[in-house]
Amino acid sequence: MADESKKWVLMVTAQTPTNIAVIKYWGKRDETLILPINDSISVTLDPEHLCTTTTVAVSPSFESDRMWLNGKEISLSGGRYQNCLREIRSRASDVHDEGKGVHIEKKDWEKLHLHIASYNNFPTAAGLASSAAGFACLVFALAKLMNVKEDQGKLSAIARQGSGSACRSLFGGFVKWIMGKGDNGSDSLAVQLVDEKHWDELVIIIAVVSSRQKETSSTSGMRESVETSLLLKHRAKEIVPKRIIQMEEAIKNHDFSSFANLTCADSNQFHAVCLDTSPPIFYMNNTSHRIISCVEKWNHSEETPQVAYTFDAGPNAVLIARNRKVASLLLQRMLFYFPPTPETDLNNFILGDKSILQDAGIKEMKDIDALSSPPEIKDNANVPKYRGEVSYFICTRPGRGPVELADASQALLNPETGLPK
Ligand code: DP6
Repeated sequence: MADESKKWVLMVTAQTPTNIAVIKYWGKRDETLILPINDSISVTLDPEHLCTTTTVAVSPSFESDRMWLNGKEISLSGGRYQNCLREIRSRASDVHDEGKGVHIEKKDWEKLHLHIASYNNFPTAAGLASSAAGFACLVFALAKLMNVKEDQGKLSAIARQGSGSACRSLFGGFVKWIMGKGDNGSDSLAVQLVDEKHWDELVIIIAVVSSRQKETSSTSGMRESVETSLLLKHRAKEIVPKRIIQMEEAIKNHDFSSFANLTCADSNQFHAVCLDTSPPIFYMNNTSHRIISCVEKWNHSEETPQVAYTFDAGPNAVLIARNRKVASLLLQRMLFYFPPTPETDLNNFILGDKSILQDAGIKEMKDIDALSSPPEIKDNANVPKYRGEVSYFICTRPGRGPVELADASQALLNPETGLPK
C-alpha cells in the first residue's frame, strides 16, 4: 500500500440514469438475493434530466465506511448496502496511481474504508425510482475505483442486490432483466436489448402527480402480493413470458402500436395485482385514472395508439409518445386538463427538455388558459379541468447508460479531506 503518512485520497465520480419498466418486475422468489419471479423490460431515461451522481473515495485516513445522500449522512448498516459493498470488495484488483504515488493491492481493499456521496438531480420525494439509479451508480463507481474487471452484466447482478430495478440502470436504451434459474443469483442479470439510438423518435413525458398519501414501499408491497395474490402467480407463469417475447419484437421493429398496447396492458395488470393483494394496495389515485382516460380516449379516436402510459408504485404517470409531434399534442392535452395553480412559474412547471413547450405553442401562462379542448371530446361545453393536480411535468427521452465523469470539479467529495464539498 502507499505510504500511510501521505494520507492520500483516491476517488471516482460517476453518473447513472434511472429507468422505467414497460414490462414490470413485481415479486421476488428470494428476498435476500433479490431474485424476481419474472423477467422485466425497461427503458432508460436520459440522465441529462433524471440521474444520480455518485463520488466514491478511498483513503488510509478514513476510519469507517460512510455515505451522504443529497448532503445528509445516512447509515450504511442496512443489508442491501452491506451486500453490495461485500460483493464489489471481493472482486477488487490492484490499483496503481503513479501520479499520486498510490499502490493498493487486492488484499488491501478489505481493510480500507470508503466515503460515498450521492446526489439526485430530481426530487427524491417525487417517487421516481431514485433507488434504481442510486444503487446502479454506487456499484458502477466502486467498480471503477477498485479496478473490478467484471463486465456490465456481472455488475448488474451486484446492483440487483441493492434494489431489483437497479440492475436495469447499468445500460442505456431498452434493457431486459433476465430472472435467471439458479439459486445463487449469478444468472439473474440485465442485458441491453438495443441502445438509446435505436428508437430515438420516442419522447417521454412524466407527470409528477400531487399526492398526500404515504405509499406502501415496493419491497413490502410485492412481498404482500407474492403472499396473497393468485393473479400474480398467473401473471408470472402465463402472461409475462409471452409479453416479454412480444415486447422484444415490438422494440426491435419500432412497432409503436404493439409497444403501446403491451406497455399499457402490463401497467394495468400490475395495478390489478395490487388490488388483488390482501389487503389491497392502491398506488394510482384519481389523477392517475384521469390521465389514463385522457390517453385512452385520444388513442381510440386515432387509427393507431399515439401514446403509451405506465405507472410504478405511486401515482406519477410516465407517458411515452411515438414522436415529437405527438409529444407536443400530448403536452397540450395534459396542460389543458391539468393547468398549474396561479402562483406557479411556467419555468418550474415544465422541467427537462423545455423545447417541447415551444413546439406546443406555449410561451407563457396565458397560452395554457387559451388551449381549446381536444378534438376527441364530443361534448366540449362542460369539460372539467383539474388545476393543480399535477405538480410538474418532466420532458425527456430514452438515454444512455452509466458514465464516469473525468472532470474533477463534478466530484461531490473534497479531494483533500474526502468529506462532502
Ligand atoms: C413497480 O426495485 O424498487 O417499479 O427490489 O424491493 O428494491 P426492490 O424493489 P424495486 O421495485 C420496482 C417495482 C416497480 C416495477 C419495476 O421497476 O419493474
